[in-house]
Amino acid sequence: MVLGRVHYAFCVILVIQTLLYCDGQFVQKNYETMPAVPFPTCRADDIDCLRRSLRTFFFLMDAGHFGMQPVDPAIVNSVSLALPEEQTTFALRRVNVTGARWTKLVERRFNLEGGKTGVVFLSDLHLTGQISMEIAGRPEPHNAYITMDIQGAESNITYMGNIQRGLDNEDYIVIGPERIAIRNRRIPTYFLQPNTEDSYIIDEAIQKKQSILDHFSNEITAAIMHSVVDNFRLFSMKVPIRHYYKYYK
Ligand SMILES: *[C@@H]1O[C@H](CO)[C@@H](O)[C@H](O)[C@H]1NC(C)=O
Ligand SMILES: *[C@@H]1O[C@H](CO)[C@@H](O)[C@H](O)[C@H]1NC(C)=O
Repeated sequence: MVLGRVHYAFCVILVIQTLLYCDGQFVQKNYETMPAVPFPTCRADDIDCLRRSLRTFFFLMDAGHFGMQPVDPAIVNSVSLALPEEQTTFALRRVNVTGARWTKLVERRFNLEGGKTGVVFLSDLHLTGQISMEIAGRPEPHNAYITMDIQGAESNITYMGNIQRGLDNEDYIVIGPERIAIRNRRIPTYFLQPNTEDSYIIDEAIQKKQSILDHFSNEITAAIMHSVVDNFRLFSMKVPIRHYYKYYK
């Protein structure tokens, strides 16, 4: 549910960006007017080349090219977790996430189930935000600020990618809906501020249940990765494949 809300926020941004872009599209043809970027054209199985290519892609993304939405820093508005047994609800709000631009490519996979394509990314993320903990029957939630380090978050992204010929006679990749699974190589570390009773109570609760941290780190990493894929979807709609892939028709 909550992740849905996060996606929705990203989608709204994406729609606005797309509309803005569509508006301008009638005036100018875009790729040719963009400043030249040193994009390596890679064979789809050349992982070292793709790693360099990913760096360039993140650079373009953070510079907002092609209407892409920068992801570093990124703000994730709200992520929550209900623990029915404990009658407790945790929420993170206004989370400022940094570090996504150094995401590394670990693996590229082809011919997965249903002809899908896959990619595995590894990221170290740093985040700060508000945390609140609500206990059933207690009128006021406990509030604090949290700083969290996520090291080695592995994102396994699978999607359908089809090649389509555009009206300009160029080939483009059209990316279908993605599926993202996150796995943490390490337990995230955190600290709470300020030094109050609220912080102490929240800390006790988190210490007791490691899955709380895992849940938050997975949701936030997934939100960032969905927005990376959305950006790539935008990019691949506008940049012909031959500019970034060596491929054979
Ligand atoms: C998010 O954090 C970065 C790095 O600390 C900072 O530069 C940026 O201003 C923050 N963004 C917001 C909206 O607070
Ligand atoms: C990633 O997900 C795909 C499809 O769900 C699965 O086949 C593959 O084994 C996963 N890869 C990793 C490294 O977890």
